[in-house]
Amino acid sequence: MAVSIKSEHEIELMRESCRLLSIVHDELGKALKPGMSTWEVDKLGEEMIRSFGCTPNFLHYNGYPASICVSVNEEVVHGIPSKKRILREGDIVSLDAGLIYKGYHSDAARTYGIGTIDPKVQQLIDVTKQCFFEGIKYAKAGCHLHDISLAIQQYAESFGFGVVKDMVGHGIGKQLHEDPQIPNYKTIGRGIKLRPGMTLAIEPMINLGTWEGKTLKDGWTFVTKDGKPSAHYENTVLITEGEPEILTLPAGAVR
Ligand code: MF3
Ligand code: CO
Repeated sequence: MAVSIKSEHEIELMRESCRLLSIVHDELGKALKPGMSTWEVDKLGEEMIRSFGCTPNFLHYNGYPASICVSVNEEVVHGIPSKKRILREGDIVSLDAGLIYKGYHSDAARTYGIGTIDPKVQQLIDVTKQCFFEGIKYAKAGCHLHDISLAIQQYAESFGFGVVKDMVGHGIGKQLHEDPQIPNYKTIGRGIKLRPGMTLAIEPMINLGTWEGKTLKDGWTFVTKDGKPSAHYENTVLITEGEPEILTLPAGAVR
């Protein structure tokens, strides 16, 4: 499938979809506290999305049973919220959320520590976020897609961290997952040439230990093979003639 180029009108709708999502993330980040279940996080997120008149795009996607992916510690992505999973001091939690506004999707992820966490794990969270910013130095017209991928990988690996290879970023717009796929690691060639009007979900998933992972028997939760923690950071980004516009980080948003 060809990579879609959004019109100015579509870009306006993407901006609003992403702005609303950034509010959801900011509020969820503030609500996290020890003793909270991952189910409560999901409910809070879903209610907020619906209160904006929007639809949670992850709910029932390929059968996924919730609106927010809540992944704790060694869970990399696609953790399933549960009343039995209680957040404890020292845990880290990745929240991956998205919504549909007037037919346009947004997608973003953040990782938070609960209370005081191990400094090495805090570094993992910080480096994962910085991987995104290293990557988007190449998210501009004239660069190629895999320039982003390589920058992310090199930054993560310079700290000895493992780059997840089983999951990738993606184009986004009228659908949650559009072409192109965006690996966070080196693959063959430089990838497609980036053009203004492309909207991309760039999402480094970085492990403290090995890059390898596996899916649990629930069919969704993807965990690290060695049981060490993993972090995730994602924004929906618009390619322009100049600097990229980070749509899920509008001015004033907490990142
Ligand atoms: N943010 C995730 C992604 O980019 C979407 C989660 S898929 C779901 O692929 F099925 F878990 F919702
Ligand atoms: Co995504």
